Amino acid sequence: MNSRSCLSIVLAAGEGTRMKSATPKVLHKVAGLPMVAHVVKAAEAAGTGDLALVIGHGAEEMRKAAGKFAPAAKLFVQEKRLGTADAVLAARDAIATGYDDILVMFGDTPLIDAGALTAAREKLAGGAAVVVLGFRTGEPTGYGRLIEKDGRLLAIREEKDCSEEERRITFCNSGLMAIAGAHALALLEAVGNANAKGEYYLTDIVEIAGGKGLSVVAAEAGFEDALGINNRVQLAEAEAIWQKRRREAIMLSGVTLIAPETVFFSHDTEIGPDTLVEPNVVFGVGVRIGSNVTVRGFSHFEQADIADGCQVGPYARLRPGAKLQENAHIGNFVEVKNTVVERGAKANHLAYLGDGRVGAGSNIGAGTIFCNYDGYSKFFTDIEANVFIGSNSSLVAPVTIGTGAYVATGSVITESVPPDALAFGRSRQTTLPGKGKQLRERRASAKKA
Ligand code: UD1
Ligand code: CA
Repeated sequence: MNSRSCLSIVLAAGEGTRMKSATPKVLHKVAGLPMVAHVVKAAEAAGTGDLALVIGHGAEEMRKAAGKFAPAAKLFVQEKRLGTADAVLAARDAIATGYDDILVMFGDTPLIDAGALTAAREKLAGGAAVVVLGFRTGEPTGYGRLIEKDGRLLAIREEKDCSEEERRITFCNSGLMAIAGAHALALLEAVGNANAKGEYYLTDIVEIAGGKGLSVVAAEAGFEDALGINNRVQLAEAEAIWQKRRREAIMLSGVTLIAPETVFFSHDTEIGPDTLVEPNVVFGVGVRIGSNVTVRGFSHFEQADIADGCQVGPYARLRPGAKLQENAHIGNFVEVKNTVVERGAKANHLAYLGDGRVGAGSNIGAGTIFCNYDGYSKFFTDIEANVFIGSNSSLVAPVTIGTGAYVATGSVITESVPPDALAFGRSRQTTLPGKGKQLRERRASAKKA
């Protein structure tokens, strides 16, 4: 563990015009989490000290979002988008507090890894004044190029300011920079804006530090870690890389994915060992799946909690507040919302279970609907243990079905049913012998005439 004090500054003030969006770029999500929150998580995982978040475009939306993903961060507003060096200086007051290390990260690099942050800080501890995290790519277009000589980093040249020859360089700036706190303010204040875009480039501090005889070095990261997202094509690319990594980690932790490339996880998906996931399953945010669970194809989860030994799907939809206890079964075309399905209970076909409870060992027949909503308010359906609900029944909430009760097929239940009772909520069948034949004959002769 690095004992030097550190301030991590995450830049998130840009509009991200290339996203063509009303939402600030860094709030676009990878694996259900804003890109900038991934960066904050990497910083936290690397233990990089105090956090400063620089916001500007969409400041109110950013402030609200930051309250969730970085409640401890100090927020600084960059009034005008004058470039990345100007953005860092928005956090001037925090920098001036006096830290050993200043770490600058971009909010649009969602795959950045904690290890890369740690490695950059180690070079500061080794005496460097500026450390730039670079990466190599066959497609460097759009990135700043790292210009090196004899192992020293001389400059970073932005694409638009590159000569023909410089443009051919494939070693690029990831955007992550570590700066010795003692020099940070002087270096940043020396940056001018005489360049193609007329912006104050953070990248200029490389040349400025070199000119002062300070040590400037590059560290190398993998292309994927450094991927900077400027448009939605790159956003999808980042998502694909993230998903691939997570699928592999999940399989290595003991989960079987039959067709991993068709299963999608969220940043916070938890899933236990010996669980089997069939093809085409989506785990939205806030999902926990226990062990020995079978998730059959085409199922969709969101804020749902599935205990050990459950069976779900195919084609099941588990919505927020769905909670399955051990060994519960939820089958095809069953939707569960804000409902606890207790131990060993089953709803195997075509049902809607919303705002209720299904007691342990109960069986919900095909086509059962919890009628939970009257167009104005939601009401609770309480099914106690070992109840049998016959197929095609409507339970009009609020309603309680007592332990061991039996609801006949096709019932519309509007009144609570006491324990062990048998409830019919339908009219009796009438059967008239021979009348069917008579009816046919009458109709046939009427048609002829
Ligand atoms: C930047 C780097 C480039 C690097 C690339 C990596 C500079 C000058 N260029 O270019 O060398 O290869 O990232 O992805 O640093 N931001 C602000 N305020 C501003 C401008 C930007 O907060 O005034 C923030 C943005 O929100 C974003 C980050 O800084 O999170 C990077 O800005 P962006 O405009 O995307 O820089 P690039 O052109 O990609
Ligand atoms: Ca960028």
